[in-house]
Amino acid sequence: MTVDTVIMPSSAEAIAEAARRILAGECVAVPTETVYGLAADATNGEAVARIYEAKGRPSFNPLIVHVGTMDMARDIADFSPTALGLAEAFWPGPLTMVLPHRKDSPIADIVTAGLPTIALRLPSEPTMRHLLYKVGKPLAAPSANASGQLSPTLAEHVAKSLGGRIGLIIDNKHPPHHGLESTIVAVRDEGVELLRAGPITAEQIEEVTGTIVSETSTGKIEAPGQLLSHYAPSKPLRLNVVDASEDEYHLGFGEIEGDASLSPEGDLEMAAYVLFEALHYADASEKPRIAVAPIPETGLGAAINDRLRRAAADSTG
Ligand code: TXA
Ligand code: MG
Repeated sequence: MTVDTVIMPSSAEAIAEAARRILAGECVAVPTETVYGLAADATNGEAVARIYEAKGRPSFNPLIVHVGTMDMARDIADFSPTALGLAEAFWPGPLTMVLPHRKDSPIADIVTAGLPTIALRLPSEPTMRHLLYKVGKPLAAPSANASGQLSPTLAEHVAKSLGGRIGLIIDNKHPPHHGLESTIVAVRDEGVELLRAGPITAEQIEEVTGTIVSETSTGKIEAPGQLLSHYAPSKPLRLNVVDASEDEYHLGFGEIEGDASLSPEGDLEMAAYVLFEALHYADASEKPRIAVAPIPETGLGAAINDRLRRAAADSTG
């Protein structure tokens, strides 16, 4: 069954409409400071099931819950002193924490897919914050793309991927501030573990916690965010390419110009900001393959290379 997909520019009216639909049990695409999310009332299991349905997402893959306030967060999860320190340092912002899920939490079971932990994030994007305030409930929201496709950084990406399957997309008219999905860390008694590299770097986290942030253990189902097939363009993708071949759309960086550059100045923040848009663009180009110039592994480069490796791993075309 297909539905009419309405795109509304972000405004008080659009946010009120989104809140109305969410309280009625629908899911709605909204911008965040990382990528567009597909949001539903996290306390309503049927509403959350509609997210899985629209995305075609396996239901063993749990969702991130977005909260508007620290009070709301503490009703859902237990915060250790380390978790409180991280919240203090990076919230609102692009950090997701996997924390012990409270027994008396209002979150629907389907959100956590049976895990004893829950992934929480307090976003900074004004549209998302207004929506959280209007709805007054936590919102479950994965990236607003069909399962296995690239995360969307523009309303038109969402429309291309989920048009006809969701009723409303709020259009921010500009790309998200960061352009990469949030950093995910598990905060445990034994220490803090990096589950997904992102805009907040491992170095920044270590500065706050003082503990070692261990390397991502790829493929472990305890960190299902690490499923390799998560971020893929539809064409073959080659990495660390200095000289691209004729049939490749070459994304440059720094001194390597390419057909388009992630950042001619070699600025990693800029490259992260435009990465998904550039991949979407390369994917839609006439060239049958994509190549990307080498990106240094330092700082934000770790998150950029992580996304590129996943995209390459799953890009058999
Ligand atoms: O920036 C973001 O994080 C975006 C915006 C919309 O907030 N959201 C996002 O959600 O990227 P999603 O569903 O595409 O990725 C969240 C990842 C999933 O792969 C999931 O497996 C993992 O977080 N996750 C959720 N709950 C978890 C838990 N309790 N333990 C480990 N991983 C978890
Ligand atoms: Mg995703």
